[in-house]
Amino acid sequence: MRRAERLEKLPPYLFDELDKAKRKASERGARVIDLAVGDPDLPTPSAVVERMREAVTNPSHHRYPGYLGSLELREALAAWFGRRFGVRLDVDSEVLVLIGSKEGLGHLPMALVNPGERVLVPDPGYPVYANTSILAGAEVGRFELKESNGFLPDVEELASLGEARLIFLNYPNNPTGAVAGQEFYMKILDFAAARGLLICNDAAYSEITFDGFRSPSILASPGAKECAIEIHSFSKTFNMTGWRIGFAAGNPDMLRALAQVKVNLDSSVFGAIQEAAVTAVSLDYDENVRVYEGRRRLALEWLSRLGCRYFEAKGTFYLWVRVPEGFSSVDFAVLLLEKAAVCVAPGSGFGTYGEGWFRIALTRPEAEIAEGFRRVASLNLWTS
Ligand SMILES: Cc1ncc(COP(=O)(O)O)c(C=O)c1O
Repeated sequence: MRRAERLEKLPPYLFDELDKAKRKASERGARVIDLAVGDPDLPTPSAVVERMREAVTNPSHHRYPGYLGSLELREALAAWFGRRFGVRLDVDSEVLVLIGSKEGLGHLPMALVNPGERVLVPDPGYPVYANTSILAGAEVGRFELKESNGFLPDVEELASLGEARLIFLNYPNNPTGAVAGQEFYMKILDFAAARGLLICNDAAYSEITFDGFRSPSILASPGAKECAIEIHSFSKTFNMTGWRIGFAAGNPDMLRALAQVKVNLDSSVFGAIQEAAVTAVSLDYDENVRVYEGRRRLALEWLSRLGCRYFEAKGTFYLWVRVPEGFSSVDFAVLLLEKAAVCVAPGSGFGTYGEGWFRIALTRPEAEIAEGFRRVASLNLWTS
């Protein structure tokens, strides 16, 4: 496929219309409450910032870092993985530092999939899986995440999509907030092993879960390292979206292929950021989740009061909510912006099966979330 054809195959940027409406609302002087973007408002822990401040003056960091990530960070990540998930990782072959998880996810199809081979991606889902598969010349097979199945893929239905090389999973899930347990991972691993399918589980939200649920790693299941990797991020766990650091763990062959792409495209993460990341993984990060817990409780109370139907999610800082009868996702999101200066993400931005839903990100303080709901409530959209 020619380059231009690949670019033409990328879907239109569905948040465009929303951006325009957001700009218009700001221009007419409205104070927009932005509950659309998954970018934490909470600060990066001060210990991380302090470590960075010191590390930045270290001349050894002013030269190229090693391609896989520093040994100190890979050791810290392996230790964290052991403590948190009970999984042993070999620091030389089973851990790879990334420039944010998006970078690793985006380069993976190029590393693992031949042009024309199929990549299975969730719908609704984080658009990067499908779009970078298209850029790699792969065929995309979308599988529906259904509310009736807790937004987990139906393994039998996956079989009907035919042969595929790679499947992207994402639990805890953006945009639905759904979580997956070990039982599901074992089932999908059996399915993959029988078909020579490779698995990438995007675990960017692994540390943001509620109601006593702790997200397991797919790598804790027997045989997982034969065909699976898991991608982790510092962005949401430690409020470090701007720092651009994450890592991949698991199957050595998959990681070697990804590293081979990366050595030709980038030269890893600034050493000072890697040092700061070593401090981050040593921290207790429960405080973050407690803040989201409060916001989530508040938002769920409002949703119930308004009579909205929503998915009772156990993970991520997102809420996945049905739009009222008679609206498309985009029409509804634009209406909220125009009439209430409240910005939410239309579900259709995450795929065809996201139509009829919208996503709220709990990345603003409680007072702002409450103000947003007060404004939306005054529109009486659910009572007619
Ligand atoms: C599901 C999912 N994966 C990955 C990312 C990218 O995170 P990072 O900042 O680590 O690149 C995001 C960002 O919103 C996300 O929602």
